Amino acid sequence: MRRPQPRGPLGEQLLTLLADPPEDAGARGRAEELAAAAAAALARAGDLLADDDVQLSLFVLHALHYLGVEGVDERWELEPGIVRAREVLGTALEEHLRAQVPGHDVPATPQAVADALFALAADDDGPGLARFLSGRAGPDQAREFLQLKSLYQLMEADPHTWAIPRLRGRAKAALVEIQADEYGGGDPRRMHSGMFAAGMREAGLDDAYGAAADRVPAVWLAGINAVSVFGLHRRLRGAIVGHLAMYEITSSDPSRFLARGFRRLGLPAAAAYYDEHVVADAAHEQIAARDMAGGLVVADPAAAADVFFGARSVLHLDALAARQALGCWEAGRSALRPVPGAPAGDRVAELVR
Ligand SMILES: [Fe+2]
Ligand SMILES: [Fe+2]
Repeated sequence: MRRPQPRGPLGEQLLTLLADPPEDAGARGRAEELAAAAAAALARAGDLLADDDVQLSLFVLHALHYLGVEGVDERWELEPGIVRAREVLGTALEEHLRAQVPGHDVPATPQAVADALFALAADDDGPGLARFLSGRAGPDQAREFLQLKSLYQLMEADPHTWAIPRLRGRAKAALVEIQADEYGGGDPRRMHSGMFAAGMREAGLDDAYGAAADRVPAVWLAGINAVSVFGLHRRLRGAIVGHLAMYEITSSDPSRFLARGFRRLGLPAAAAYYDEHVVADAAHEQIAARDMAGGLVVADPAAAADVFFGARSVLHLDALAARQALGCWEAGRSALRPVPGAPAGDRVAELVR
């Protein structure tokens, strides 16, 4: 991943530390201090999901487990001080979400679990980002949408893959069936992350992972951090399964609107990415809700309650992110953070890109 700019004292401390190799004199000692710095950043944060320093720092810590970060020694990934800091921030995010999303009774059969998940999605009245893109967004807003989405979509499906070794039987087979599609079914040109990258290039955007990271507001990073927290912890296997189920359930219909919007704006590769999801996710949502989430609830009662925690977290986080972007666009502003180093509101760097 491209190395992002820090957004506060914690990010500054973290990115400075990661620039050194772990065996450097003093580097391990400074890593040991990072958990305390993370706790201090949490104490400073007002709204955790909107706190730029916390969310960017956690995003960087998670990136060590995925593609790594440019210029960062890979041995940092499991250094105890780094892991402790990641746990301090990740646990705070989990606890925040548990306090925000209501609980849910756990049904007894796979079909009842699926019905309950579909009912939750049907009741959701989150803001209509896809509808805005479909009918009203201009080319700048469409490009901003791709940038906001890029930090997840360019590694699409990866956080859920962490769950595979933690499941058994029907739930595991269902997850692998879905993931095989997400990864192109053996054809790299059909990988969803690659199709999204083609949509970005078509729109004149840099498709390198993390190229847009500095522009993406905290609340969007919080959504990616949540799925990484769920994916990286065996004890949260119910939450990662519920998260994927709700992602699939809330994808097919909005993708139809998004495909229409990108086609209207003359961006057929981005439209093709969403066309693919209209079809694929109409099948995935059934497999995910009944076989994967329902299968897990029956086979693994200890994980069952978290299926609904993960599912409700998706609705909560997606609504906040959509509200952030729509609020800016309705007010005639950019939904992105300013280009680092440029005066606020300066769009020159974007125009020359
Ligand atoms: Fe996908
Ligand atoms: Fe899917």
